[in-house]
Formats: sequence, C-alpha cells, structure tokens
Amino acid sequence: MNTKKPYSKPTIIRHSVGILNKFGRPPATVPMNRIDGFSVRELVEKHGSPLFVLSVPSLRERYRDLNRAFKTRYPKFRIAYSYKTNYLKSVCALLHKEGAWAEVVSGFEYDIARDLNVPGDQIVFNGPYKTKSELIRAFRDGALVNIDNYDEMQVVEDIADELGETIEIGIRINMDLNDPPWYKFGFNVESGQAFEAVKRAESGGKLKVKGLHIHTGTYVDDVTIYSRAAQGLVNFYSYIKEELGVKLKYWDIGGGYASHNTLHTAYLPAEQTCPTFDQYAEAICPILLNGPFPPQEAPKLFIEPGRALVDEPFYLITSVVAQKRLPTGQRAVVLDAGMNILSSVQWYRYNLQTAQDAGYMLEDTVVYGGLCMNIDVLQMNTSIPPVRRGDLLVIPHVGAYNISQSWQFIYLRPAIIALENGNVHRIREAETREYVQAPESIADEFINGLNE
Ligand SMILES: Cc1ncc(COP(=O)(O)O)c(C=O)c1O
Repeated sequence: MNTKKPYSKPTIIRHSVGILNKFGRPPATVPMNRIDGFSVRELVEKHGSPLFVLSVPSLRERYRDLNRAFKTRYPKFRIAYSYKTNYLKSVCALLHKEGAWAEVVSGFEYDIARDLNVPGDQIVFNGPYKTKSELIRAFRDGALVNIDNYDEMQVVEDIADELGETIEIGIRINMDLNDPPWYKFGFNVESGQAFEAVKRAESGGKLKVKGLHIHTGTYVDDVTIYSRAAQGLVNFYSYIKEELGVKLKYWDIGGGYASHNTLHTAYLPAEQTCPTFDQYAEAICPILLNGPFPPQEAPKLFIEPGRALVDEPFYLITSVVAQKRLPTGQRAVVLDAGMNILSSVQWYRYNLQTAQDAGYMLEDTVVYGGLCMNIDVLQMNTSIPPVRRGDLLVIPHVGAYNISQSWQFIYLRPAIIALENGNVHRIREAETREYVQAPESIADEFINGLNE
C-alpha cells in the first residue's frame, strides 16, 4: 500500500499579532476617521462609496519638496509631471500652477495639456508611438520631442522636409541599469545603438540633437541606479560632444521615484525603505554638474515624476459589504471597491485602515474586492479589527495609476473629490449608466422579438 502523502507546495503566511508587528508597522487599531479634518463617514454620506479623495495640501507639499530638493542642487531644473500617472484635469492644473511642465506620451494627453493652457514649449512629448500629425503639431508648438526609434526619426525627417526647416529633437536612450534591463524605450548606450542613433540623426542634415532622455524604470527605490544613469548621461554627452560636436540644451532623467507604498516583494514597509527627495537629488545632481560644459552652459535638467507626486495625496474610502469565514478558518471581508479601480494592488500591499473605532482584537483577514472575479483580492492577509457590513475602510496612497488605469467592469466608477481650506470640490462625478453606454447603439432587428 502506498502510504506516501501527496505533495503539496509549501506556503509562507505572514503573521502580524500584537501592538507592533515584527515588520515594524503598527497594526490598524487607530481608526483613520478623518482626512484633512473632514469626517470620513460624512464624506461618504454626501458623495457615496467608494470614494476617491484628494488632499490638495498634500499634493502641493510633495511638489514643493521635490522641486526644492533638485533646484537647490541644480539651478536650471524643471519638473515635467508625468500625465499618465493621473491625468485628472484638477491634478494636472494644480501641478502646473505650482510650476510643473507637462510630460505626455500620446496625442490624447497632449490635448489635455493644451486644453489646460500649457504652452507647447512647456510640454515634453515622449512615448514610443506618436502619429505624424501629432508630431507636426508638437514641433509647431515648440514642444520638446524625444525620439524613440528609427521609424519615428524618419517621420520627423519627412516633417523637416515638409516644413522646410531643421528640427531640434531629443533622443531617448537606455542603459544596462536594472535587472532585467529596460530596453523597450529608445536606443541602448552600451551596445553602441545610442551613438549610432545620434550620428544617424545628425547625418541627414535635417535634425539637430539637442536633448537626451532616459527613464530608468518605475518605483526605483535604489538611488544608486539614478547615480549610474547620471554618470552614463555625462559619459555619453562627453562622447557625442567630442565625436559629433553635439551641444545639448537639456537632459531628462525621467521618472520612477518611489512612493510610500510597500511592494508585495518587499520585506520592510515602504516607510523604512522609500528614499527621500533629497536622497534622489543628491544621487543625481552633483554627477550631472560634472558634465562636459562650463557652468553657464549647463543643460536644463528635467525629471518626470508621476508616482512620487500623486500616490500619497489620494485616499480611497470603501465600505464593507459582507464578512464570512473561509473553510480554512480565516476571516474574509468583501468591499464595495475592486481591483478595477485599484489596479496597483497587483504590485502593492496596501495599508488598509479602519475608519471607525473597532477595538484592539486584531485578526488576520483576507480582503476581497467586490468584483465577480476570483483574482479580485485587495489583501491576502492583513491584521485588522472586526468590521461589519456598513463599516468603512480607508486605503491611503492610491493616487498613482489607479485612476488612469481603472476600467469599467460590472459597477460604475466612483466620484472623486478634492479637499482644501475646508472646502470640498467634486472634481469628477460618479459614472452613470447613460455615460457608459452613450457610445453604443443597437440595431432595430436585434431588439425585435425580445418581448414576445
Ligand atoms: C517616459 C516616462 N516618464 C515618466 C514616467 C513616470 O514614472 P513614475 O510614475 O514611476 O515616476 C513614466 C512611467 O512609466 C515614463 O514612461
């Protein structure tokens, strides 16, 4: 008789019991019942649940802190806000009011920036796919266009012919900085492609290379990657200056700065690992200032932050709709928000907070989103006090990518409000079924007989 037990793969379950768990994070016993002085419950009563909430002071503060960290170290400096991270008009407008330029990667985003009265020459246009008409418009407007590939370069040469002018461009480059490396965007430096691309651009007599652009990845919490990118930029600039006589007007070291959210793969909470803006700036600016130019000819430095500016200022308030016991004995909670409006849950172990006093009896809980999908899990295992139907949870730091990458599925997407100076602004209405179905039509013959 075979007495061998069937193999089952080992699993590790994170336990977090007591007042301070071994990962250094206090458990969620102190209720987060107010955001910027507003009662969480009252906000939901007025604006519905789930509800995205923007703290305007927090957004302004993050912008100012980041700007200060870089500008004090590299005076010719400008933040170009990465629209894709969250292109709510209010978010973009607030950042432009603070002084940010726009970094866009599509005609759609370009239009949003122009509608917000961002002058064309304060737009950085990246992205691997820009149509010819979008490029023509961008050059006419004086935007900074960074070229991703040879096909695009050819289109820009055609445009130079049509306009009868020499066109200034930036070249997107990549380097062997991460594991795995980010080769998707631009031309690789180490393999010689980037040098060939600059030479190719300059050889046609129609293009002038005036910028270099690199984006090292996203949620890069190792500042040495930025130091290596900065040194790579300096070396590459020295080389193309010497070999090809290129003189840069700007260099752009992209986005990627981390926010205070903990990755699933991380052991320590982000509060302990996320570099400060000063640490990023210190890793980049002194190296760039050692570049091949006299001080008065320092190229303008751009960075393109997204996540690090807008993650922290946003909260998601969500209601408990059910609780149950799983056959494993674990407690489960179902929320009215799902991963369709919180897609970053794929990467982050969000820090869920209860919004009402619920005592100190913490229990490891699986938190399900409200979608009819098995993968819709917002936390596999989190330690929270008892909650029941109607209770509220607050999820902080949700501003990056969740709104711009949200998808409409089964439920309508919620309203978004902004808080400042005791005022509540409704910056996006909750979706209605009419809005979602407006582009649809139904042929008469499809309807006939439905009620027979
Ligand atoms: C070219 C470029 N710049 C900036 C960003 C913003 O990155 P993050 O949100 O990580 O700061 C991205 C995002 O992928 C990007 O592709």
